[in-house]
Amino acid sequence: MIGMRTLREGMMQRTGFLAAGGIVALASLTTPALAQYPSKPVTVIVPFAAGGPTDVVARLIGEHMGRTLGTTFVVENVGGAGGTTGSLRGARAAPDGYTLVSGHMGTHAAAPALYPNLGYDPEKDVEPIGLIAEQPELLTVRKDFPANNLKEFVAYAKANESKLNMGHAGVGSVSYVGCLLLNSAIGIKPTMVPFTGTAPVLNAMLAGQIDYECDPVLGTLGQVQAGNVKALVVAAKKRSPLLPDVPTSYEQGLPEFDCAPFYGMFAPAGTPQSIIDKLADALNKGLNEEPVQKRFAELGGESIEPARRGPKALAELVKSEAARLLPILKAASEK
Ligand code: MLT
Repeated sequence: MIGMRTLREGMMQRTGFLAAGGIVALASLTTPALAQYPSKPVTVIVPFAAGGPTDVVARLIGEHMGRTLGTTFVVENVGGAGGTTGSLRGARAAPDGYTLVSGHMGTHAAAPALYPNLGYDPEKDVEPIGLIAEQPELLTVRKDFPANNLKEFVAYAKANESKLNMGHAGVGSVSYVGCLLLNSAIGIKPTMVPFTGTAPVLNAMLAGQIDYECDPVLGTLGQVQAGNVKALVVAAKKRSPLLPDVPTSYEQGLPEFDCAPFYGMFAPAGTPQSIIDKLADALNKGLNEEPVQKRFAELGGESIEPARRGPKALAELVKSEAARLLPILKAASEK
């Protein structure tokens, strides 16, 4: 018995020692590790193809965040399922600040309304870092599409619905959501052709394989300005200063086509607060930099005023946008 007790006590002592030692070892590992974050490159998952608005926004701000934090932000494009594949991977990554997601209104607000088995809850499984940009969408058609304004577009689309091809970046993407609002307001059901992002949609439209798409201004701006595709409508109350001749959906009597997606940076839930604070600070500094503001303005975005920056404001935006979009998307999908 004594032998048994001694053995048990010895084991307990050893276990206690090991546990205590483990805690000490963990503490000595985590505290400096947190303090010296980041000590290696940070991966930013862009859940769409390279060259599209999400990618451009992430690379632009990531470069400046990396500079502030003394590391490199490496973009990894993980397209598929309207951006939910990459967003899911990001939500399930280790919460250590080394894997982030550059998401948007589609992946982090509209997706729950459109995917019953999404696999991540944008309000619970991710930690918002901050809003990066906001942009109104544009209805853009191929160069030789037989319509030059919304009225002609509606007439042509209704008469030729069965042969109309709409390109989008997958169910729940912002190009899908924007055109869903447009189609349901007009009352058309075109063939919806999915791609992994709107950069490949634009290529298909330049090749004449796609008739139209709805994408934030920066997606098609260069090709619109070069005259290779035609912009018919801005889905907002206000015209874009970069495309002053393109009327708004409100001016053209179609206020239901109103879509200005937000773009934000997210970390997995459970990421230490000190790391979120560092990332939010770096994002904020990036947004304050003159070259960043200039570039966003050139791309058709508006600068994000200080009150709308940071984790709390983005968490509120995700929540309010999800609540706003749910009935709209449900109604539009059922039409
Ligand atoms: C892109 O970045 O490729 C698109 O804007 C994605 C989308 O349509 O949501």
